[in-house]
Amino acid sequence: MPRLLLVSNRLPVTVKVEKDSVSVVRSAGGLATGLSQPHERSGGVWIGWPGDVSRLTDTQRTRVEQQLADLRCVPLYLSASEVSRFYEGYSNRVLWPLCHYMLDRIPRQDRDWDAYRKANERFADLAAKHYQKGDTIWVHDYQLMLVPGMLRARLPHARIGYFHHIPFPSSEIFSTLPRRTELLKGLLGADLIGFHAVSYVRHFSGTLLRQLGLDTDVDRILFQGREVRVGAFAMGIDAASFETLAQEPAVMEEVKTLHARSHGERLLVGIDRLDYTKGIPRRLLAVQRVLERSPALRGRLRFIQVAVPSRTEVQAYAEYRETVDELVGRINGTYGTVHSTPVHYLYRSLNEKQLVSLYRGTDVMLVTPVRDGMNLVAKEFCASRPDEDGVLVLSEFAGAAAEMRDALLVNPYDVEGMADAIEEALEMPRPERQHRMRCLRAGVKARDVHWWVASFLDRLQGLKSVAERPP
Ligand code: UDP
Ligand code: G6P
Repeated sequence: MPRLLLVSNRLPVTVKVEKDSVSVVRSAGGLATGLSQPHERSGGVWIGWPGDVSRLTDTQRTRVEQQLADLRCVPLYLSASEVSRFYEGYSNRVLWPLCHYMLDRIPRQDRDWDAYRKANERFADLAAKHYQKGDTIWVHDYQLMLVPGMLRARLPHARIGYFHHIPFPSSEIFSTLPRRTELLKGLLGADLIGFHAVSYVRHFSGTLLRQLGLDTDVDRILFQGREVRVGAFAMGIDAASFETLAQEPAVMEEVKTLHARSHGERLLVGIDRLDYTKGIPRRLLAVQRVLERSPALRGRLRFIQVAVPSRTEVQAYAEYRETVDELVGRINGTYGTVHSTPVHYLYRSLNEKQLVSLYRGTDVMLVTPVRDGMNLVAKEFCASRPDEDGVLVLSEFAGAAAEMRDALLVNPYDVEGMADAIEEALEMPRPERQHRMRCLRAGVKARDVHWWVASFLDRLQGLKSVAERPP
């Protein structure tokens, strides 16, 4: 494996400040969890933001920096203004909703483009500083779409890959963005541009044609005298480590406790960052419909929803939290009894053991985003079921649905249809559950994170570098 220089907005660890204590914790989100293994194995460095460190004393900061250095993480500190304009502003108020088809969430006037461009310059400068000849640079995600182009200008012969972890929308949608051409040209600085699904590649190629008049020949684009490749590489998870963890005595003990405290109730679980793309309100309404339609299930069903706090300073996220809080309260108020609470709602993140215990202990896993680039939770759930049990209810609008055809696929906008799927999952006979889970697990294990990294990097390394190409 070549030395990897990973560049992403968020590092795989985040600095957490609580009162007087400071710790470095695992970052949530698919990108951070998925890339941790390749980072460990390649011996390279990872450049990114470690979260807000403004409240640290000098001593605390030195200690944190040492911890980051031990993990071969190079911190890029964002100022308060960069957090609000680059991260919360352009990245998460404009690009995030745009790529998830939610144009009405984008502010009418965007004032943060300059901050986005400047922050991308800072990432490119730091990456160029740490670059060693022979390195493979791998830039990640929508926060850094200009970085490949900026790096190409600084390091014309470097091998540069880019991966887009969220959907790439249809050209009709992307073309609404005033800065569409700058962003497209930024991406074209890479040698290889990867997406999770073939449909995103198609959308990207369509947008290149429409906006820049560039034709894609199978997977090749000619841009400014260089060849740029595009491809679909569905990201996987570290399936083996989930499987191992799911069999550890501590996890089995936790599963036992979960079942004992459930007093025979059937369990449904949802685990997401609290993000408006994750479809939590309609999922809650579907659970409510099940309780409405089937009085026999009242008091016999428990839905555990874990919502990991995310982007809390962005208004849309704060409003979404209120919507979810209200719905949970309403359902519990209507269907709760002195002995049972149908929705068990946790607004916090879990550690790996707690996470895997929920995956391992549930009857049904509900993954119903209204739009999601991939969704690794769906894959982690299957990897954590060596007992070949449990049913996955999966949104057809998650990238994972293209691979996980043995899940119960649902339209996340159709509350009634999701209620049907939940009932079907609860009633599914054991042989069918086993058959479906066996097929799902085979896919998750075969196309794991190592397969994903190898297929992307093999393709990237197989390309002639700029230096080798004839003038
Ligand atoms: N996750 C986590 N802590 C939690 C809950 C989830 O680290 O408390 C992880 C989860 O294991 C998964 C990732 O966050 O690897 C979520 O990735 P996914 O692709 O499902 O969605 P994203 O958050 O990237 O939109
Ligand atoms: C998604 C994005 C990642 C992001 C993660 C967590 O997975 O694709 O780029 O890091 O969400 O979001 P955050 O804003 O906390 O980094």
